[in-house]
Amino acid sequence: MKQIFCGFLALLTGIWVSACSTPEKPELGEQRIFRITHADSAGRMVSEIWTAPKLESLGSREISSEYFDRAMHMSDSRFSATSFSRLVKGFALKRGEDAVLLNCFDDYQGILSLDDVYRYDLRLVTKIKLTSSSSRPDWLNPLLILVPDGKRPPFQERFMTANIRELKFVRLNDYYTPLEKIAGDSPQAQEGLEVFKNNCLFCHSLKGRGGNKGARLLQEYNFANDSDRKRFLADFKKFHHKDNADKQDVEQFVTEGKLERIVDYLKNFSEKTSD
Ligand code: HEC
Repeated sequence: MKQIFCGFLALLTGIWVSACSTPEKPELGEQRIFRITHADSAGRMVSEIWTAPKLESLGSREISSEYFDRAMHMSDSRFSATSFSRLVKGFALKRGEDAVLLNCFDDYQGILSLDDVYRYDLRLVTKIKLTSSSSRPDWLNPLLILVPDGKRPPFQERFMTANIRELKFVRLNDYYTPLEKIAGDSPQAQEGLEVFKNNCLFCHSLKGRGGNKGARLLQEYNFANDSDRKRFLADFKKFHHKDNADKQDVEQFVTEGKLERIVDYLKNFSEKTSD
């Protein structure tokens, strides 16, 4: 339809409207360029440009993932995937880097500790093949983090990062410190911080950490206020449920109790700062 319309417009005006010839978004599984950012031997941050074929040249296999299928409510998805640890081993990390920040095209920001990369043998996917009955949300593009069959990390949003445009080696401690400082000592808030880090921060940023796909929660809700805390819980369930149109079923990762702990954390946070 778009083609016909553009052709018609060209005929009418004699000019090929440039907006019509802009390429569509890359299709699922199409090659993408991404960056790997790391410190060089002099300690300067450098960014290398990588392509999917370059990553695949480290060794690529076609695999499935029950973890992915469960989280996405899909079945029989297949992937071309490369070992993440093999990639990591190619970099000399001399500054205490113990994590990889995953910056994504859609303002999602994932982060994985290198411990998790090794422990769960995580993979980097360069091609995604869904069955014809599965509908694909816009954000589901390579690079994608994948838990291979046989590995059982906790069921969390953390292991579902897609659409990655940059991998950056960082120190976990540096990354989380601004969020930890403010958590306070109560075990409830500490637990809330963990749940938030594992499931929410990727899209709801705090203190300059995390992504901005979703709203800044401390701006939307006054957590010191009882009715706002209730509204927060109600809005969460209204949006992040299993039938979410964009497959952002975050509810599956958190129990009612865990959500309450997030509220404890954000309440402490909002008493000490505004973000
Ligand atoms: C994949 C990204 C993503 C993750 C992960 C995520 N959210 Fe969201 N969230 C969104 C988007 C997008 C919206 C839609 C509206 C908005 O906030 O911009 C939203 C909406 C919400 C809303 C309603 C806000 C409003 O303005 O209507 C709440 C509350 C919320 N999220 C809480 C959470 C909590 C708590 C977690 C973790 C347990 C979480 N979200 C994880 C992306 C995400």
